Amino acid sequence: MHNKTALVTGASDGIGLECCKILAARGYNLILVSRRKSLLDDIADNLKNRHPAISCTVIAADLSASRAAQDLFQTVEKHGLKVDFLINNAGLLHNGFFTQLDLAAQEKMIAVNVLALTSLTHLFANQMAAGNGGHILNVASLAAWTPIPNQNVYAASKAYVLSFSQALHDELNAACSGVTVTALCPGYTATKMMDNPDQGGKLMVPANLLQSAAEVAQQGIDACLAGRPTIVTGLANRITVAITRLFSRMTLAKIAGRYYRSNMQ
Ligand SMILES: NC(=O)c1ccc[n+]([C@@H]2O[C@H](COP(=O)([O-])OP(=O)(O)OC[C@H]3O[C@@H](n4cnc5c(N)ncnc54)[C@H](OP(=O)(O)O)[C@@H]3O)[C@@H](O)[C@H]2O)c1
Repeated sequence: MHNKTALVTGASDGIGLECCKILAARGYNLILVSRRKSLLDDIADNLKNRHPAISCTVIAADLSASRAAQDLFQTVEKHGLKVDFLINNAGLLHNGFFTQLDLAAQEKMIAVNVLALTSLTHLFANQMAAGNGGHILNVASLAAWTPIPNQNVYAASKAYVLSFSQALHDELNAACSGVTVTALCPGYTATKMMDNPDQGGKLMVPANLLQSAAEVAQQGIDACLAGRPTIVTGLANRITVAITRLFSRMTLAKIAGRYYRSNMQ
């Protein structure tokens, strides 16, 4: 690898942080984006110490803010940087009974999981297509394949990411744009998202069902660089997706509803 540049949203933690470590080891210059600037500064310093040949640019941004994607795109341009690899990873989760959950929090979740991801994809895909092409990895979820009561807005937001990314993959491929789009569908992954008091209820998941964030990031990056439209991480998750095809969506909702109601604390 030489001097390609990757922008990772949600770079301060979990899957996004692991993506940064993998890409830094592969020689990518990095643009690290999330809200916690001091944490990003520390991560950037660590990555540069380990990989002196790369550059790291930190951009603090709240992707739930109005026009956050446009502002981020302009900031990247002001830095004189061109993005070859975009990872739309930042995401929020809220568990609980829909009508009792805070509406503003649900709206923020849609703003980050859906709106910012769509706008960043639009802005950077255009720039990549006009230049040397590129890769876009959009982080969806296993939740994208099933309606999930008590996690319904989150699951719907991830269903959007999956459908949007798969359709766009074909569109950009048919247009010979040189841009590939991949939907990454991790199952339960051992990150803060699995145990975050800000997210409402906590889903109890057996430890043997959890993948590591490093494993998920590696599979996502490999699939994206190989130009695949979709990657469901791990055999157990691929079997789960295959099983979802055997049932109607309402049956899936009932099964998921029962599971989430009895395993949510
Ligand atoms: N963990 C799982 O089981 C799992 C399963 C399937 C899919 N996913 C998806 O994987 C992605 C990464 O999740 P994770 O598990 O790594 O979660 P995480 O450890 O909670 O990390 C979330 C990241 O998103 C950033 N973020 C949150 N809100 C933001 C905002 N408003 N603006 C900018 N950045 C924001 C956070 O940084 P700051 O706090 O610094 O802003 C953090 O870096 C998400 O899209 C998630 O839906 C996770």
